[in-house]
Formats: sequence, structure tokens, C-alpha cells
Amino acid sequence: MAIIISVAVQKGGVGKTTTVVNTAHALAKYEDQHVLVVDMDPQHNSSMVLGKVTPYEQPRSVINLFEDKTMNFSACAVPSKYKNVDLIASHIDLFGLGESLGPSNPKGIVALKSKLDSGALEKYDFILIDCPPNLGGPFLNNALVISDHYIIPVESESYFALKGMQQFQESVSVIKETINPNLELLGVLITMFDPRTNASKAMVDAIRNYFGHSKVFNTIIHRNTAINKANMLRQAVCHLDTRTPGCQNYRTFAAELLEWTKRIHK
Ligand SMILES: Nc1ncnc2c1ncn2[C@@H]1O[C@H](COP(=O)(O)OP(=O)(O)O)[C@@H](O)[C@H]1O
Ligand SMILES: [Mg+2]
Repeated sequence: MAIIISVAVQKGGVGKTTTVVNTAHALAKYEDQHVLVVDMDPQHNSSMVLGKVTPYEQPRSVINLFEDKTMNFSACAVPSKYKNVDLIASHIDLFGLGESLGPSNPKGIVALKSKLDSGALEKYDFILIDCPPNLGGPFLNNALVISDHYIIPVESESYFALKGMQQFQESVSVIKETINPNLELLGVLITMFDPRTNASKAMVDAIRNYFGHSKVFNTIIHRNTAINKANMLRQAVCHLDTRTPGCQNYRTFAAELLEWTKRIHK
């Protein structure tokens, strides 16, 4: 039975997409897992990296999930570039769809619930959802409504990294209290760590104190140019070069993620 995890926080540029792409790839490549990535961000960055074709050329996308009554997760998933990683791509038209999914439209919050077919739940070990950087928007809400867990990436380079965290947790609480009581924070992933700066080290302590040590993954993703290069070349970092620290970090993280979820979903 698939474990569904949203990678989400309202801040942009903190490593959500990078985490989704590279965790999916490492889970499939090194941990023998079957993974579906759902790109819910209209900016479609994970679709660009994982797709065999550009998001514009994909036969089906997240749009079909929302707009087409006959479509479910299995029908919209296509194979990605990588073995055992499938993709439901995003589409630039999601921007327009997001505007029409206002608060008065019931699709605005639970459109995807009925689309999760048993075929997809059985086929995949993990469904990872790449969320847009917003607070309470329709795509984020739809993702959280169907998720077992969410992961918050927090960059350790910025003194403002924890700013807005309370609002984010509060907006997640609304979903948890009203529609999805199962929704739990799986963990916080520290990203963009630079061991040479005292600021980064101080932020790691601040993040662990804020969330509690048991809620912060032991793996820390370091700032590593190979990660940026892999994104630019539209590749997973472990596909680009397995010797890079970026690959080592995401490989370790995938193993830790698997261990944490196994502990919860025995
Ligand atoms: N660990 C890292 N080291 C170096 N660059 C990174 C790292 N993680 C992400 N990046 C870069 O930072 C930018 C933002 O990352 P991204 O994953 O797109 O964030 P988000 O999805 O939260 O907006 C991208 O240019 C990406 O290549
Ligand atoms: Mg992103």
C-alpha cells in the first residue's frame, strides 16, 4: 500500500523539488522501491527533470486528474526517465486552473480524493507530491488531503528559515482537523547546509530546538554544486555522478526515510 508524502512549505527555493526528484530516484535505484511523483506545482520543475518529454508534450498531466471525470492516478501516470519512477506531470495551465479552484469550489480541496485508485495504491510503495510554494492554495490543500505525511524542507543558510513556520503548521492543522485526521509531519529535512559557516550550524540547532530532535531527519543535505548542475541538466544527482556529496546525501536520506516510514507503517 503506497505511503503518500507531500513535500511542502510556503517558502520557495528551499529544496522541495530537488528533494522530491532525488529522493524518488534514490528510493527506486538503491532501495528497490516503486515511486510515483506527482508534480502539483504549476512551475513544473520536477516534471522538467523527470519527464521523458517536456511537460507540454506529456499525454496526460495533473490537469486531467482535476478536470476529467474518467481519469484517475493510474491513468495519468507515465514512466519517467528513471526505472521504477513514474510521473504525473504538471502543466503550465495549472496556473489558470488554480484560480478557478477558489474557496467556493468543492474541487478546491478534495478533488483528488476520489481519484486515488486501488491500482495506484498497490503499484507504488511511495507517492511523493511536489507542492507549490504557497499557504492554503488549492493544489497544496488537495495534496495534503490525500497524504499520510508531509516533509518540510528547511534551508539552514537563512536566518529567516523558520519564519512563517507557525502559519504553515496552522494551515496544515486545518486540513488535519477537518478532512484528514491521519495527516502527520513525517519530518523536517535540513537543506543547503554549509559546514564552513557558523550561521548554518546555529540554524541547525535552532531548527532542532523548534521542531524537536525526533522530528528532524538525521540526514542533512549539504549545499553542493552537483545538485544545482544536475537540476540544470535535468537529471537526478545520483544519475549525474554517484560520487558527489549531493548523491551521497540524498541516498542516505532515502534510506532514512524508508526506515522512518517502516517504523510507523509496520
Ligand atoms: N543542496 C543544494 N545545493 C545546491 N543547490 C541546491 C540544493 N538544493 C537545491 N538547490 C538549488 O536551489 C534552487 C531551489 O531549489 P528547488 O528544489 O527548486 O526549491 P523549491 O522547490 O523549494 O523552490 C534550485 O536552483 C536548486 O538547483
Ligand atoms: Mg519547487
